[in-house]
Amino acid sequence: MGINKIHRFRFVVCVKGEEKETHNPFIFNFNQSTPCKFVQLGMPKLGFVIVLAFFLLWALLAVLSNFKIFKPVSVCRNSSSLAHKLVKSDMIILHSQILFHRFRMLSGRNLTRMEEDSDTKMDQSPWEPLLEEFTFAENSAPFNSCHASTIVEVDKDCFLVAYFGGSYEGAPDVKIWLQMHKDGYWHPPVIADEQDEVPMWNPVLFKLPSNELLLFYKIGQEVQKWSGCMKRSYDGGITWSEREQLPSGILGPIKNKPLLLGNGKLLCGSSVESWNSWGSWVEMTGDSGRSWKKYGPIYIQNESLSVIQPVPYQTAKGNLRVLLRSFDGIGRVCMSESLDGGENWSFVVPTDLPNPNSGIDGVKLSDGRVLLAYNTVSRAVLKVAISADDGDSWKDVLTLEETEGMEFSYPAVIEASDGRVHITYTYSRTQIKHVVVQPKMVQ
Ligand SMILES: *[C@@H]1O[C@H](CO)[C@@H](O)[C@H](O)[C@H]1NC(C)=O
Ligand SMILES: *[C@@H]1O[C@H](CO)[C@@H](O)[C@H](O)[C@H]1NC(C)=O
Ligand SMILES: *[C@@H]1O[C@H](CO)[C@@H](O)[C@H](O)[C@H]1NC(C)=O
Ligand SMILES: *[C@@H]1O[C@H](CO)[C@@H](O)[C@H](O)[C@H]1NC(C)=O
Repeated sequence: MGINKIHRFRFVVCVKGEEKETHNPFIFNFNQSTPCKFVQLGMPKLGFVIVLAFFLLWALLAVLSNFKIFKPVSVCRNSSSLAHKLVKSDMIILHSQILFHRFRMLSGRNLTRMEEDSDTKMDQSPWEPLLEEFTFAENSAPFNSCHASTIVEVDKDCFLVAYFGGSYEGAPDVKIWLQMHKDGYWHPPVIADEQDEVPMWNPVLFKLPSNELLLFYKIGQEVQKWSGCMKRSYDGGITWSEREQLPSGILGPIKNKPLLLGNGKLLCGSSVESWNSWGSWVEMTGDSGRSWKKYGPIYIQNESLSVIQPVPYQTAKGNLRVLLRSFDGIGRVCMSESLDGGENWSFVVPTDLPNPNSGIDGVKLSDGRVLLAYNTVSRAVLKVAISADDGDSWKDVLTLEETEGMEFSYPAVIEASDGRVHITYTYSRTQIKHVVVQPKMVQ
């Protein structure tokens, strides 16, 4: 029985005619000798035209989505459970992709083969977020503006985020805020630290193997004058120690989480933004922030305004690398490598990834790949890329945001104990968005 030979025109006509159909609207037990009313009349009717137009639109959508011209847009939702929820637009794309395959199947290609293709196709878009949510509802927080979030897994299904919030970035009332995700929802923001008339900046959370939580942040009238500070929690973030001031010249992890080395030392990627001079440093502590050594500077040869906010990770060969945000005009995510455990660093080189002078963050996944969240042309586009060779080459796997005129910035990325990747980022400077993705193989 030749389903390969069914003509598209005839198929549509017989949807309108009262032909027998199977449970699958695109596969008919259709005998070619069966008389078909409209074919015999040879006169398209209005209903037929509407159905045909609808079908063509559907096919067009499918073609566009197949060639990734038309991508599912991310829809922001308020969700307090970690359940997988497909948004409507994703459903349309998914269905049109399936239909597109059946359409090609009907137009003459091997059935078995196409079914396989269709399965593969669905596996090829595995980077849809499992969850997208805000940590607090719009206009519900006791501050107008927030930025620079950080996230840590305290326990299974228990997460802590921190960020700075106040009237605006750098305002004297900007404090460090903490929010706990527990019992399936985000608890309201609470103050982690504040200082009369002095703004606070860039918190960074980290959990040591001892379960001690560290909260680093900066305090100062402006970026060029800020000092490093920290607090500790021994009860999973419920209570925190008094503020400790880091030694002069030590700022702590400047934006991104530190890397715990095999020798027990904590490697913190730091940087300095002073007058006409931007560069990075690595600060190391072997006693959870009580004593420090720093190594650097890490910079682009002959560039005084070069790179800040390192993302440290270890390569398969056992070397250390940092990915870096770069100053205006450099335009790329940059990279430096240390072959001696973080003491000496190479001159910085650009990677293939764009960077519009905007914060990045990434993580070395347990499967060995490096995942990076980064802005492309501007802070209006936030993407996720994957590298299978420790940062030498990259492949985009997900567009988290793309809305002209808006800001989605300063991602913080962790891999949780269940292998899922949690990303938080600044949403329009008014909220913190939390996205969960399940990393899958590319292709
Ligand atoms: C379809 O393709 C498969 C594998 O490519 C092949 O084994 C099978 O014989 C083909 N079927 C037809 C009907 O051509
Ligand atoms: C989500 O919605 C619930 C009720 O529908 C509300 O109580 C809660 O504040 C909302 N949370 C966020 C983060 O929007
Ligand atoms: C940096 O400057 C030095 C001396 O001015 C020059 O020899 C070197 O080639 C420059 N390097 C780069 C990468 O521009
Ligand atoms: C590496 O750094 C150490 C100090 O941190 C220094 O003594 C040594 O000379 C450096 N090695 C090279 C090759 O620069």
